[in-house]
Amino acid sequence: MSGAGQVSGPAGHDDLEPVATLSSAAAAAEWKRIADRVEQANRAYHTEDAPEISDADYDALKRRLVEIEAQFPELAAEDSPTRQVGAAPSETFAKVRHAVRMLSLENAFAPDEIDDFDDRIRRYLNLGPDTALSYTAEPKIDGLSLSLRYENGVLRQAATRGDGETGENVTENARTVADIPEGLNGAPNVLEVRGEVYMSHEDFASLNARQAETGGKTFANPRNAAAGSLRQLDAKITASRPLRFFAYSWGELSEPLAGTQMGAVARLKALGFKTNPLTQECDGPKALMKVYTAIEQKRATLGYDIDGVVYKVNDLALQARLGFRSTTPRWAIAHKFPAELAWTRLEKIEIQVGRTGALSPVARLTPVTVGGVVVSNATLHNEDYIAGRDSKGNTIRDGKDIREGDWVQVYRAGDVIPKVADVDLTKRPVNAQPYVFPTTCPECESDAVREEGDAVRRCTGGLICPAQAVEKLKHFVSRGAFDIDGLGAKQIEMFYADDALPIKEPADIFTLARRDAANLTKLKNRDGFGEKSVSNLFQAIEDKRKIPLNRLIFALGIRHVGDSSANLIARHYGGWVAFESAMTAATIGEGPEWEDLLAVDGVGSVMAASLVNAFHQDAERASIDRLVAELDVQDVERPKTEGSPVAGKTVVFTGTLEKMTRAEAKARAEALGAKVSGSVSAKTDLVVAGPGAGSKAKQAEALGIEMIDEDAWLRLIGA
Ligand code: IVH
Repeated sequence: MSGAGQVSGPAGHDDLEPVATLSSAAAAAEWKRIADRVEQANRAYHTEDAPEISDADYDALKRRLVEIEAQFPELAAEDSPTRQVGAAPSETFAKVRHAVRMLSLENAFAPDEIDDFDDRIRRYLNLGPDTALSYTAEPKIDGLSLSLRYENGVLRQAATRGDGETGENVTENARTVADIPEGLNGAPNVLEVRGEVYMSHEDFASLNARQAETGGKTFANPRNAAAGSLRQLDAKITASRPLRFFAYSWGELSEPLAGTQMGAVARLKALGFKTNPLTQECDGPKALMKVYTAIEQKRATLGYDIDGVVYKVNDLALQARLGFRSTTPRWAIAHKFPAELAWTRLEKIEIQVGRTGALSPVARLTPVTVGGVVVSNATLHNEDYIAGRDSKGNTIRDGKDIREGDWVQVYRAGDVIPKVADVDLTKRPVNAQPYVFPTTCPECESDAVREEGDAVRRCTGGLICPAQAVEKLKHFVSRGAFDIDGLGAKQIEMFYADDALPIKEPADIFTLARRDAANLTKLKNRDGFGEKSVSNLFQAIEDKRKIPLNRLIFALGIRHVGDSSANLIARHYGGWVAFESAMTAATIGEGPEWEDLLAVDGVGSVMAASLVNAFHQDAERASIDRLVAELDVQDVERPKTEGSPVAGKTVVFTGTLEKMTRAEAKARAEALGAKVSGSVSAKTDLVVAGPGAGSKAKQAEALGIEMIDEDAWLRLIGA
């Protein structure tokens, strides 16, 4: 990289001082030097059409600017190159925290799942089978979701979904999309419009033709083209790409758009957005299925990709009552079209060992294109699946087993991992042998056992199994967990295998920086590590000693505990000491700590048992203790419950509730910051007792705990 001053090339990070140790004068000087350099590169690229530096070097410069500005916000001036759309695609989009989370949708494939959806909603809302319940049905657009924030009718910000909590700021790019209005007349003061950015088939074909002609990158499918076009740092490139937008939802609002989903979508249309003309109101599952079939029949002629039909409860007051699970609304579901299929040869079956010891069979395939994407691996689920049985022993695929060398049918649905669906026995090689599933771990040779009721065989090696240990470590440093800069999967493998500077368990990451000087010299001489990058890595590790409780719980890699459950668990306990002592005191299946854990929304008995086990197994517990001794675990905020009369209170519901179901009552109370418990104890603040309340009401009386009926509860929470 010619003339890039102090900044090193992408291969080494050696010349840079960690931003954290820069003085503000040094930071300002460096910022100025790099900003000038970026501007010069922009001019060369755009105006003179003669790029001077590589995309990677350009990205490195911009990333450094972003790092400096994060530490010294006073340098982030309006005209900073980080605020302007620059040259090459890069990872330097600013992050935007969504005012209201952007959720995903539960998927359904079979018609009876739609009946289940309707049943569940009726049960949740306590509606009988004869009570009218209206839904909407609309195409599920296969693009990428975008949130547009309008303030006083002016487009202020556009953000991608990202992980649902935080997305990327793509405002300038969104402004170039013709379907996205710059200004709105008569809109609420705050209006976040959500919808899908997509590309039509015709525009996709001509874009690819143009790209091929000019030697540019061609795209596998319209969705990739839409995503690649929107996520361009140079808005001029986005402007040259024919993107479109359908509005179908909303985030923050200063006033409601309407009383129904249909009404709200009509309002968005009246405000100037494109809404999907196939959106319809339906009076139940049968009508939904009719619309599904009709839309599926139109699919090939729509001119844009859709991958299913989305059903939503029409009444917005009911939507509000139904609320959300951790990542999906209870009031909507995506009914997906059948997956795309292709046939290819299964070359080999390999076993991967995951962080919880699960032995997962993977099919290595002769690469084949399925719905525009090249597939060369597919999951085979477990040993029963390979043998042609389901987990209950019933035959699947007419009992046909899967063998190496077989001709197999592969299918893909949306973003899920491709699966092997079927086998063509007429093409089976004569010497093909039934697959023998290993009963020892291929990585550590420990026994691999299958517990009663578990479809999966697991390595019993625990932390002595290198595959489990490495996978656990990779999970530990992954994005939703500790997310340590410069310590990714590749580095974990390197350190794990290193006898001089081993990282065998998470605590070792934090003791690494304290090793003696001789070892550090060894590290410095390793591939990709120079003086500066070693100190950068140590700094990145130091930065993560302070970690919020939810991230720590997720990072522990306890079976069944995903990031959204970890969030809910952390919010329930608030701090490490409360969480750790509850897990230590808990006994599986009984006692107040067990009940309390089950009271966390989304925690069922399987996850609860897994959590309690992790704290009661000597080796795992010791490893957790060693880790926590290295950390400063931050308490997490309880949900925003300003003005909530029940925030922080422990509430018990007992007896029959007549105006809402138990599930709804619990979800509502928790959303208001209350803790809902299944049993009455001295810690209970309030008992809501319906008709037929028995021993719990008596206990509450004996303990002198306040007791109210359902109506009083509804008045109390202002419902
Ligand atoms: S509603 C709270 N409606 O599908 C739920 N989503 O798989 C908001 N999508 O993230 C989503 N068409 O990007 C909704 N008509 C439609 C949609 C739609 C496509 C996307 C959206 C969402 C994803 C979930």
